Amino acid sequence: MDEMHHAEWLIERIIFLEGLLTVTKLHTIKIGKTVSEMINNDSSDELDAVRSYNEAIKLAREVKDQGTVDLLSKILKMEEGHVDWAEIQCVQIKQIGMENYLANQTEGAVQ
Ligand SMILES: [Fe+2]
Repeated sequence: MDEMHHAEWLIERIIFLEGLLTVTKLHTIKIGKTVSEMINNDSSDELDAVRSYNEAIKLAREVKDQGTVDLLSKILKMEEGHVDWAEIQCVQIKQIGMENYLANQTEGAVQ
């Protein structure tokens, strides 16, 4: 859900800068067949996003575009939170095992 907001904010920024949008080129989404694969793929994608935002922030600083630096920094912080979330899930799975992890994920969902 956060990434949808990021896309909206980035599109608004590009339009403000009178740039051209390319929204038809999408990255391949790696989902995974198991929960571990899903979390590992998510972690990898989040780390790629962090790297990309850091590179984009560096470029925006070079061209003295503080508005873009501020926007990308806000998004970067959220992406770093996503990396943390994935790392926490991996640690929990290692500590309590997959069965207990999955049981914890469904707590509150069953009525
Ligand atoms: Fe993310």
